[in-house]
Amino acid sequence: MMLLENLIEKNKEYASKGNVASYIPELAKAEADDLGACIITLSGEIYKAGACDKKFTIQSISKVITLMLALSDNGKEYVFSRVSVEPTGYSFNSIVNLEIKKKNKPYNPLVNSGAIVTTSLIKGKDKDEKFNRILEFSRKIMDNKDLNINESVYHSESETGDRNRSLAYFMKSTNYLEGNVSEILDIYFKQCSIEVTTVDLAKLGCVLANDGILPWNGERIVSKEICKIVKAVMTTCGLYDESGKYAVRVGIPSKSGVGGGIMCAVPNKLGIGIFGPALNAKGNSVAGINLLEDLVKELDLSIF
Ligand code: DON
Repeated sequence: MMLLENLIEKNKEYASKGNVASYIPELAKAEADDLGACIITLSGEIYKAGACDKKFTIQSISKVITLMLALSDNGKEYVFSRVSVEPTGYSFNSIVNLEIKKKNKPYNPLVNSGAIVTTSLIKGKDKDEKFNRILEFSRKIMDNKDLNINESVYHSESETGDRNRSLAYFMKSTNYLEGNVSEILDIYFKQCSIEVTTVDLAKLGCVLANDGILPWNGERIVSKEICKIVKAVMTTCGLYDESGKYAVRVGIPSKSGVGGGIMCAVPNKLGIGIFGPALNAKGNSVAGINLLEDLVKELDLSIF
């Protein structure tokens, strides 16, 4: 698609307004000015351009996958008794929200605190089985049997993940997190280290856009209700404390990650995967958001 190529060229320069994540040291190795995109329609047309086949770690976009799995495993009543669905107004790894309202549960499943709780709700006999269920579900929903974790990113995150440890132990003290904290965090660090491309993300977006049915073979893997919930939470909380501005500028259910990915689901139409590792102060891809703003305008994709 010429349009996609042109828009990538046009928006590449925005990378200079951001920085690659460095609080997970391995992520600092990314090439700041990479920008790529893939669009996949529900009828199977694929359009891709730029750094669309480059691998990067899924990071926070994995929170969408664990939310789907936790909802399938436990039902919405139980999941939402452990984690709420309100935007935080604070950064993705903020601890202040957890204490501000007395013994409040984590605000939503897409910030780190809420996602750690969601991960703790995944069923399995031990931590390996739990992580394997996340990996197998990811492979299925992204139609890619080769998906795996990036070991260096996993170790880097595990070595430096003290903020997440503090969130988790705090939630253990308020009884919102149950189980073995270091095992739960190990699963969380691994799920964030799964390596994907924009094509994989576009497929995940496609399944959400298609209400839980894999468009490529007609198999249902999650209920329509779960997809509705997940797309609603993506719309209100998917870009953290930039979700409001993003809704105004772009206007489609999306989830970002500090690896530079953005995954979008345009209901009943298509999925989009974006990669641009230079991030703004909120932890979202700078060039990626600008590219999406143009793309959504050109193709009239806003849901609003
Ligand atoms: O836990 C972390 O901090 C990272 N593994 C994921 C954070 C993330 O992707 C936030 N997204 N913008």
